[in-house]
Amino acid sequence: MKRFGGKVALVTGAASGIGRATALRFADEGAKVFCTDVQSEEVKLTAKSAVELGAEAEARVCDVSDPGESDACVRACVDRFGRLDVLCNIAGILRFDYFDEIDIADWNRILDVNLTGTFLMCKAAIPHLLESGGNIVNTSSTSALAGLAYGAAYGASKAGVLGLTYSLAIEYGRRGVRANAVCPGSIKTPMTRGAAGLPEKIDPKLITRAMALDRPRGPEAVAGVIAMLASEDGAHINGEQIRVDGGTLS
Ligand SMILES: NC(=O)c1ccc[n+]([C@@H]2O[C@H](COP(=O)([O-])OP(=O)(O)OC[C@H]3O[C@@H](n4cnc5c(N)ncnc54)[C@H](O)[C@@H]3O)[C@@H](O)[C@H]2O)c1
Repeated sequence: MKRFGGKVALVTGAASGIGRATALRFADEGAKVFCTDVQSEEVKLTAKSAVELGAEAEARVCDVSDPGESDACVRACVDRFGRLDVLCNIAGILRFDYFDEIDIADWNRILDVNLTGTFLMCKAAIPHLLESGGNIVNTSSTSALAGLAYGAAYGASKAGVLGLTYSLAIEYGRRGVRANAVCPGSIKTPMTRGAAGLPEKIDPKLITRAMALDRPRGPEAVAGVIAMLASEDGAHINGEQIRVDGGTLS
């Protein structure tokens, strides 16, 4: 019995890394998957791979930070598949700067994509999730729970995602809609490859404390936890955040 048979999952950030692995995990577990990202060709490839796994899948370009696009994306998903059961907000961006050198435009862009994008997608999805008794899984980060040097904007955006998730859980829990978050750390994806543009002359000790205790894992390690939270196995989990970091913050 597949856990997501008859269910529809919308996954943002589905062109790459954790988003791609999550879309394919849902497809493999029987869901119809609506894959969205700003990367047009790559998100089509994810949908194609989902179809190869036997799922119905659709790809759509959407910048989650744009209110019109996020709204239209959720509508397109419901038009295509008739319902929405799971929203996975995985799209995100990261950049490193010395705190006193953060440009306001960069600060705003990180908050726009990581936090406002999550808010906009949740807002557009809530009416449909109330109808289906569905749920939301948001992507925060270990940087929301412990300081990430040179990543103040990113950490602030991801802490905001947790606050948003807790509020949604309380506000909609009694009406049958759950909201949870994952806090990944040290996952091997394009985002973390090659330290993603760290500034020069950093203190490496401040960064290595965020490294995995054993070894970095692939994005599938997070996808499996997202699927558990979104499934009936997670039915009594609401307003929770789960670290997927190999114990780094233990
Ligand atoms: N890799 C890690 O160790 C790690 C740790 C903590 C949190 N995260 C979070 O996990 C999520 C996925 O990251 P990843 O590691 O798979 O990185 P990734 O770069 O492989 O994937 C991020 C995806 O988001 C998409 N995206 C960026 N801006 C967008 C926008 N405005 N609208 C729609 N899509 C957009 C990108 O095109 C990309 O496909 C992110 O939210 C990231 O912050 C990752």
